Amino acid sequence: MEVIKAVIPAAGLGTRFLPFTKAVPKEMLPLLNKPAIQYIIEEGMASELNDFIVVTSRDKQAIVDHFDPNLELELQLEERGKTDLLASLKRITRIANFTYVRQAEPRGLGHAIWTARRCIGKEYFGIFLPDDIIISKTAAMSQLIKVARQEKASIIAIAEVPVEQVSSYGVIGIKKQITPNLYQVSHLVEKPDQKDAPSNLAIIGRYVLSHKIFPALEEIQADKNEELQLTDAISQMIHNNEKVFAVKVQGIRYDIGNPIGWIKANIGCALQDPQMAPHINKFLQDKDLLDIFMYSPSKIFENQL
Ligand code: UTP
Repeated sequence: MEVIKAVIPAAGLGTRFLPFTKAVPKEMLPLLNKPAIQYIIEEGMASELNDFIVVTSRDKQAIVDHFDPNLELELQLEERGKTDLLASLKRITRIANFTYVRQAEPRGLGHAIWTARRCIGKEYFGIFLPDDIIISKTAAMSQLIKVARQEKASIIAIAEVPVEQVSSYGVIGIKKQITPNLYQVSHLVEKPDQKDAPSNLAIIGRYVLSHKIFPALEEIQADKNEELQLTDAISQMIHNNEKVFAVKVQGIRYDIGNPIGWIKANIGCALQDPQMAPHINKFLQDKDLLDIFMYSPSKIFENQL
């Protein structure tokens, strides 16, 4: 089974990150010095994917610009002998192909995927939700592709979450547990009440799906918010006799779709960066140093004296 294409839905409104997302796409939020979407493309390339179909909307031009070659900048870096920087800029533009499709209205994740249907043939393809950044030894998507090849079926990435949090996620129903980390899925439920949740295994933002998801997306109804849910379409695909498995991905996942998650992700990534880690560790552990950074009216009063 060959998996070479991936769809990246990036046409959401990003309301949890307003007002930042009014004019700047949340996919361009920096994690250290890289925009979040670059982590996604690098994970894709590490998983041997090289065709990326990005679903965009108005005000997402910065994503397109970021992956376009910038000849003027490249020339300047070359003249200044900054060869490492130049090589890192060129690597993505040389290897990855980008196609942009436009979702006219934010009608849900399922609808965003459906918008990319003409770019996908009769093949399995990856989906990355760019809100979920996964740092791991083996690229998360590559872990999924391995299982997809082994089972010759669609695969969803999952993570165990505390039961009190299931209502924030899509959750899988278990048909059969195959190994400690691999399950066959019976159905999916989008954001269930805790009492109705079929498990505490939550869907996280990586999938390898059969092209049969597209007819399934046409069979399902929109939800009460007029959105097409991808989870409903996957359940429909199972109903249509397609096998779907879920695998617990090995790695650490950051949900950067909200400010708290994004701040934690930056701290987490900085603590894993050999150059930054000593500075950030010192900053977090030294109470006096932290205190200098925090405003309080009494401090100003003392300073004024
Ligand atoms: P989210 O619900 O997490 O993102 O969708 P959002 O809608 O942008 O954010 P909030 O909830 O308003 O803060 C998951 C992914 O699906 C994409 C989003 O861009 C995000 O990457 N998406 C969602 C679309 O591309 N189109 C849609 O209609 C909805």
